Amino acid sequence: MQVLLADHAGFCFGVQRALDQVEKEVGQGNRVVTYGPLIHNPQVVERLARQGVEEVKDLAGASSGKLVIRSHGVGPEVYEQAKQCGFDIVDATCPFVHKVQKLAKDFTDQGYQVIVAGDRNHPEVQGIVAWTGGKALVVADEQEAKALDLQGKAALIAQTTLKEATLRHIESALRGKPIELAVRNTICAATSKRQDAARRLAAEVDVMVVVGGRNSSNTAKLAQICQGAAVPTYHVETADELDPEWFQGKQKAGVTAGASTPRWIIEEVVQRMTDVNQEQATTELNEQKQEA
Ligand code: F3S
Repeated sequence: MQVLLADHAGFCFGVQRALDQVEKEVGQGNRVVTYGPLIHNPQVVERLARQGVEEVKDLAGASSGKLVIRSHGVGPEVYEQAKQCGFDIVDATCPFVHKVQKLAKDFTDQGYQVIVAGDRNHPEVQGIVAWTGGKALVVADEQEAKALDLQGKAALIAQTTLKEATLRHIESALRGKPIELAVRNTICAATSKRQDAARRLAAEVDVMVVVGGRNSSNTAKLAQICQGAAVPTYHVETADELDPEWFQGKQKAGVTAGASTPRWIIEEVVQRMTDVNQEQATTELNEQKQEA
């Protein structure tokens, strides 16, 4: 069995950058606190915890040190509160997310009604809305966009991980309204590149393994895409979850991984699949010898 790794599997630029910043601070002996889990991967969060990195959900009452703002970003009130609490801020907000926050703020300052296409429960979207002083509206789909009562100037921007098609549908729903509409496509290419590569690989293999945290929505989305290619697909967090049965009689197996899956976990999975394959080949060879 051939084991093939999809292009763009694993960490995106923003997540890698955030982890590098945390590791640098830890390496310098600083007390490091992250505001929420740094990334949606339990193994990475556990590893950081073993290195002394703490996670806080509420800054009030947290003691001082280096406070890492994760790649999703936060609203201006969090920077303010962190300063008041005596934290030194390490801003690991992805530069692409910063750009969306700035657009949201600038449009609001110029009198536009900002509309964010995305998931209102996602921290990135909540952070973007906070930069508009809570004035931005969030729509998840075309229906929600159609239901908006708008007038004057509006600006449509998107959560960085939104699907391109969803943005286009929302845009056409808004085009039907009597407003002056500005649209900025703020979707990050990393997500679509990873998804396209997974789709391509799933179409040419007999089985797919998707690696990533069960709490990672982009990993779950990758698994859905692979299932959509009608190939047996298994979502695992670590190599220990692999079942040799999945690969019995298969010629080609594909591997992809979410944006919060580190390289070491992907390598362990690929290695374990290669080992399983060799064990199965040896067993088959021995059986053939016994039959001969
Ligand atoms: Fe940044 Fe794009 Fe990753 S916005 S955090 S590089 S998915």
